[in-house]
Amino acid sequence: MDSNWLREYNYLTFDVIDSTNSEARRVLSRGADGNFVISAGEQISGRGRNGRIWESRPGNLYMSILLEADGFYNRQSDISFVTALAVYDSISEISRTCASKVDLIIKWPNDILINGAKISGILLESIKSNAKHYLIIGIGVNIALSPNLSDKKTISCADLNIKNISPSLMLDIIMKHFSYYYNLWQDKGFTPVRQLWLERSCKRGEVITVSDGRNRISGLFQDIDENGAIVLKLASGEHCKLSTGDVFFGTVY
Ligand code: BTN
Repeated sequence: MDSNWLREYNYLTFDVIDSTNSEARRVLSRGADGNFVISAGEQISGRGRNGRIWESRPGNLYMSILLEADGFYNRQSDISFVTALAVYDSISEISRTCASKVDLIIKWPNDILINGAKISGILLESIKSNAKHYLIIGIGVNIALSPNLSDKKTISCADLNIKNISPSLMLDIIMKHFSYYYNLWQDKGFTPVRQLWLERSCKRGEVITVSDGRNRISGLFQDIDENGAIVLKLASGEHCKLSTGDVFFGTVY
């Protein structure tokens, strides 16, 4: 396996931890410098988006990438799309040998779905420490287990009969793709990342609903803009841009 990423990232790994994202914060509070990758076999307080719990029993991948972000602190949300591309391509790579049908898409902004069920989640946390900006990218991939989520179907590699994949191999594959897309973004900016993301997302014109936890807006998926906001076309013909929320397919009442 190509582990070239180890030349550019310090790597910390734990059997059990509260949350790899929390460990990234502790790394910073200890005054460490540079980029880090942190992984754990199990998390006892795994965090999901919007304050949700991320069930983290042994068998799945739990990892965080800690990046110094001073050079791009006003474009940190781009990294959500960079990471989604890396995780999408990694899952696509390992599912090539899968005998059953694999319909892989990215759901805005960064969920990876197989046959409509969530196989991976990404949690970005932006923090300032010692007067510098940092970005923590938490990634969970369902390898052996598909955890229960109250509002979404989930799926794992094991459910698809993809057997020869361990969390550490998955981490290596993700870091290979992450390094590629992160370099692409550093060289060429958000434009090619946006284009590649759109090629892997749901189809334009599909009916979707975006929920912020209280309000829901349904419309036709049109685009993502140059800042990564989702653009919906409403029944009135108006266009509406949203920067945060959860996407559901179809109309949700
Ligand atoms: C989501 O809700 O979709 C995001 C889930 C992110 C889970 C990962 S697992 C590794 C890292 N540590 C955490 O506590 N959360 C992220």
